[in-house]
Amino acid sequence: MTTRIHGSDSVALGLRDVFKIYREGDTETETVALRGVDLFMERGDVVALMGRSGAGKSTLLNLIGGMDTPSAGRVTVDGHDMGRLDEEGRAALRRRSVGFVFQDNNLLPYLSARENVALCAALAGAPDATGRADVLLAEVGLRERTAHRPDQLSGGERQRVGVACALAGAPAVILADEITGELDSATADRLVALVIELGRRAPAAVLLVTHNPEVAMRADRVLKIEDGALTPSSVGNTMTRATEMTL
Ligand SMILES: Nc1ncnc2c1ncn2[C@@H]1O[C@H](COP(=O)(O)OP(=O)(O)OP(=O)(O)O)[C@@H](O)[C@H]1O
Ligand SMILES: [Mg+2]
Repeated sequence: MTTRIHGSDSVALGLRDVFKIYREGDTETETVALRGVDLFMERGDVVALMGRSGAGKSTLLNLIGGMDTPSAGRVTVDGHDMGRLDEEGRAALRRRSVGFVFQDNNLLPYLSARENVALCAALAGAPDATGRADVLLAEVGLRERTAHRPDQLSGGERQRVGVACALAGAPAVILADEITGELDSATADRLVALVIELGRRAPAAVLLVTHNPEVAMRADRVLKIEDGALTPSSVGNTMTRATEMTL
């Protein structure tokens, strides 16, 4: 059973005063990876997250994806409070409501593009998984490549199959952690544009980690994370924080 937060159904993603403290075994060593993070996004919002290595970006995405739990504070995804779910419940919510775009795109090598995306759709609970796969592969420009296995596709094409997979279950939130790392700048730019366009159209909240200011400029909001604390960045424009105010 999951609990919906009353009155926040339009909020795809909510973090309220979130802390994450890593403790190393029996030692006294503590790393405060996140300190009091507030972030609210509706479906269709696109946020770019920037910050130095070790600032806490992946930690934040892991909490949203339910792979880890906060030390304090509340994380809600698609209106569901993660803190009220056990590990199985978090995994189910992740499959249904969160789409991940990976840098190495996690495709199964012995399945075709269509089978890979259909598997993602089926895991996310989509009713007609193969039909959904065909629609998404057409949207990412791979209508002619659906029968190809990953090793029969270019790196950029594989990334686009990965984007189709991330969108397969009509997620409330799409997370992309530095997906452009290994791509040339033109391919990287097209990939990010595609994630943002499809995310807006879905609509899903898109949270994109990037080190590239040009990529960040494509977002509605750019946030900077410094030593685990989130601040609006001077890169790009700042959107109204009305959503934050009302919650
Ligand atoms: N499982 C863990 N156990 C202990 N410390 C961790 C763990 N994961 C991350 N950290 C620490 O938390 C801090 C934030 O790490 P995180 O991976 O979130 O950084 P990041 O912003 O994603 O960096 P990068 O740009 O290098 O990917 C770092 O100091 C890191 O060493
Ligand atoms: Mg990281």
